[in-house]
Amino acid sequence: MKIILLGATGLVGRAVAAALEPRHEVVPVSRSSPIGADLEDPASLDALFDTGADAVVCCAANVPLRPLGGLTDAQVLDDLRAKLLGQVALARRAAGRLPAAGSITLTGGTFTEPIPGSALGALVNDGLAGFVRSAAADLPHGPRINLVSPGWISETLEAMGEDGSRGTPVAVVADVYRSLVEGDVHGATVVPR
Ligand SMILES: NC(=O)c1ccc[n+]([C@@H]2O[C@H](COP(=O)([O-])OP(=O)(O)OC[C@H]3O[C@@H](n4cnc5c(N)ncnc54)[C@H](OP(=O)(O)O)[C@@H]3O)[C@@H](O)[C@H]2O)c1
Repeated sequence: MKIILLGATGLVGRAVAAALEPRHEVVPVSRSSPIGADLEDPASLDALFDTGADAVVCCAANVPLRPLGGLTDAQVLDDLRAKLLGQVALARRAAGRLPAAGSITLTGGTFTEPIPGSALGALVNDGLAGFVRSAAADLPHGPRINLVSPGWISETLEAMGEDGSRGTPVAVVADVYRSLVEGDVHGATVVPR
């Protein structure tokens, strides 16, 4: 398969590329890659599909942890723009331009318990899970659409000086993306463990 991979330069994206590359052609994309696209600029996503592809995987963009109290309405919208609205914009385009046998795999996240500053992140993650579940009903004949929703990743915890064993190794997370791309699941949210 030819697979467009958004977020290819990030921690998760690099591991997903390593998991997919032995069996597939991976097209790496990020804002800074030679093939560039910005989830905050939906029009920049159109050209990604011009040369044909079988699948798209998105593990790009983050929602920062920050308390709601200090945010303006404009800042709230900004925080929703890339990961939530950008992935919806990507999925909408992919649904129209990938073959029926193809797939769309997006990224959410899992907070095992509410932590300060996580309200917008939780909104985005839970919103994406609902979006994927219902979008699958709009795509009964494909392409398939799924969400990977990791908790903390070990390598990220270690980079923060914390105990990586509390998280999931990025290679385990990446293998979930590979299994969703190669499998037949449709409309699922998968939490890597
Ligand atoms: N790391 C964790 O512990 C963890 C846990 C749960 C969920 N997640 C989720 O997993 C995803 C990837 O996380 P990560 O840790 O791999 O992040 P990361 O290392 O910061 O990588 C982010 C990637 O996304 C690209 N990107 C950022 N903003 C973009 C935009 N507006 N348009 C297009 N590309 C953009 C970046 O490249 P450019 O800057 O070149 O564009 C980079 O390739 C995120 O959605 C994150 O919320 C991560």
